[in-house]
Amino acid sequence: MEIGIVGTGSVGRALGTGFTRAGHTVRFGTRLPDREDVRELVASVAGSEAGPVAWAAEAPVLVLGVPADSVTAILDGLDYDGVLVDPTNRYPTAGEESQYDVVSRLAPDARVVKAFNTLGAEVMTDPDFDGVAATMLVAGEDVAAKETVIGLAADLGFHPLDAGDGSAAPSLEDLARLWIRLAVTGSGPASDHELGREFAFVVHAR
Ligand SMILES: NC(=O)c1ccc[n+]([C@@H]2O[C@H](COP(=O)([O-])OP(=O)(O)OC[C@H]3O[C@@H](n4cnc5c(N)ncnc54)[C@H](OP(=O)(O)O)[C@@H]3O)[C@@H](O)[C@H]2O)c1
Repeated sequence: MEIGIVGTGSVGRALGTGFTRAGHTVRFGTRLPDREDVRELVASVAGSEAGPVAWAAEAPVLVLGVPADSVTAILDGLDYDGVLVDPTNRYPTAGEESQYDVVSRLAPDARVVKAFNTLGAEVMTDPDFDGVAATMLVAGEDVAAKETVIGLAADLGFHPLDAGDGSAAPSLEDLARLWIRLAVTGSGPASDHELGREFAFVVHAR
């Protein structure tokens, strides 16, 4: 499958690496396709190319590997109507829309799926913890789109878990905020790896 990934940061690189390893082709959509680090990224990820965001958005699946506050500028005028994967996290104030709702509003023709937001990028290329696959929570309104993303999460080696329809997406964002809070305040496990392990299995532990 051809997958567009907007952004060449931690998440974009990790997912691009994992998807191409699984046999997919990746179009990195970037603000500066000719930048040196983007050239190096494409050279190191076999099966990937880089170009403008609108070119990446010709793919049937598009991942928003970008800061939450840049989503408006990116989706404005894109008219994307494929499977839009949203791993973005932010800290809304009380009563504000969830990030999933923001993305859904900005891309009304897209089938938005919340996924890849609850674990660190370093886990995304290697979700295996001593032979046990990390859980990847997936939520979204469109069942077929969600199945596509569940398949992609499985391709990366995750244990995908359908967390529910679009109304479950804010809970995935809450979970990410808890994970980030523990990482930032240092009140969780000492290392990012151990914290990743805790969140990878928080669902298995039910
Ligand atoms: N890092 C994690 O472990 C992690 C885990 C789960 C979810 N997330 C979420 O995933 C999203 C991406 O995180 P990340 O860690 O990959 O971020 P990052 O390393 O900062 O990379 C973000 C990329 O977005 C692109 N971009 C497009 N518009 C931008 C703008 N206006 N300002 C800055 N960058 C812009 C840039 O690529 P170009 O320069 O090539 O355009 C940049 O490399 C965030 O919403 C984050 O909350 C992150």
